Amino acid sequence: MAVTERAAQSFADLVDVDPAEFRIHGSVYTDPDVFDAEMDRIFARSWVYVAHVSELPAPGDYKTVMIGLQPIIITRHEDGNIYALYNRCRHRGAVVCRQERGHSNFFRCRYHNWVYANNGDLIGMSQATGYPDDFDRSEYGLVRVPRLTNYRGLLFINLADEGPSLDEHLAPVRKYIDYWFGRSPIEGIDLLVPPHRYEYPGNWKLQAENGYDGYHGNYVHLSWQRVLQLSKESTVDEVQRYRQEGCARGMVNGHGLLERPGSLNPAASWTARMMGRYPEYAGAMKQRFSEQELVEISARRNIFVFPNLYLFDTHIRVIVPKATDKTEVQLYVYALKGIPDKINEGRYRGHERFYGPAGFGAPDDIEVFTEVQTGVHAKGNVWNLINRGQHRERRENGEWVGHTTDEAPQRSLYRHWRQVMEDHPESIPGR
Ligand code: FES
Ligand SMILES: [Fe+2]
Repeated sequence: MAVTERAAQSFADLVDVDPAEFRIHGSVYTDPDVFDAEMDRIFARSWVYVAHVSELPAPGDYKTVMIGLQPIIITRHEDGNIYALYNRCRHRGAVVCRQERGHSNFFRCRYHNWVYANNGDLIGMSQATGYPDDFDRSEYGLVRVPRLTNYRGLLFINLADEGPSLDEHLAPVRKYIDYWFGRSPIEGIDLLVPPHRYEYPGNWKLQAENGYDGYHGNYVHLSWQRVLQLSKESTVDEVQRYRQEGCARGMVNGHGLLERPGSLNPAASWTARMMGRYPEYAGAMKQRFSEQELVEISARRNIFVFPNLYLFDTHIRVIVPKATDKTEVQLYVYALKGIPDKINEGRYRGHERFYGPAGFGAPDDIEVFTEVQTGVHAKGNVWNLINRGQHRERRENGEWVGHTTDEAPQRSLYRHWRQVMEDHPESIPGR
């Protein structure tokens, strides 16, 4: 069967939750019907990450984003509040803001010059005499997105006006987000904009599956391990040993993470090592957090927040699906606030070295995504296995916890994917 012929009528059947052999059908990556349904049932109905508040410090600051295929403006109005507006002129539908980010006190549609304030109000129309005197401008502002919520500076929107709250959506992963913020003794970050970005000819879920994949590193990133050995920073053996430590966690609501323990393990986050090197940082951290909290904070985690956000040690990663086989990824490097500049400088250089456009890591991952996207067109076998460690994973506090190389988080992604893809399609906004 060609991979584009779905195995069954329901999208849910594309995920086989067999207790011994969890599998996904290759068409989840290639079928345009699957992609369209994902845009409606996932991106138009889930909490989707759009920005960090540090990107919009002043009234008039804005950025534009795509939520699924829908253009949205995130903007701070002179009333101090942040608004999320559909980027669609109320006249004949042109986007009113074409820039990716900037500063402006209004948005002027360039087609016929209708003008909107940063809160969406229609404040001007060219040649207004062409409309009757009682034309009510207040009815024709840019439409506001139904829900916009801020969690510790991370802004999420939801295009559906009902469904779980952001609190409910984040609940299973919230404590790990809190630990991630805790690497700053004042628990704050500042994004360095613009992001660096890459696009690859593959499905968006390939990036989602890879950020917490602890299995591939010794193979895809072997060249990186050899570079570390040549530069005498570490040996291949050491790095491979460190990569066995920690765990992989899957959660409900599609979240998951890869975790390396804290301490002086070079594969862990910078936190513990930098506390050893910078007494002022150690002092600030010890004043703010307990010993137990510091152990958790020092762990390095790649945290996936379903469906489009990754929190990494050095950057926030945003996945932007564009088509079945086209995805953009944005990497926002950030400063941890309240720590010595030298630590942040080291983080930036470390980021460039592994994740940057000329880095030793991320480009190899991207290459693999295109190899999967090509491979799943092959006929014969149409199922991909994500059952690694299924026999040995354990349930802990509602999580599925496995060895660091196990596919526990990937299974969580697809368990949730399966659920939302089959849920109530009749309630899709705009249908
Ligand atoms: S489409 Fe915007 S003013 Fe006409
Ligand atoms: Fe990788």
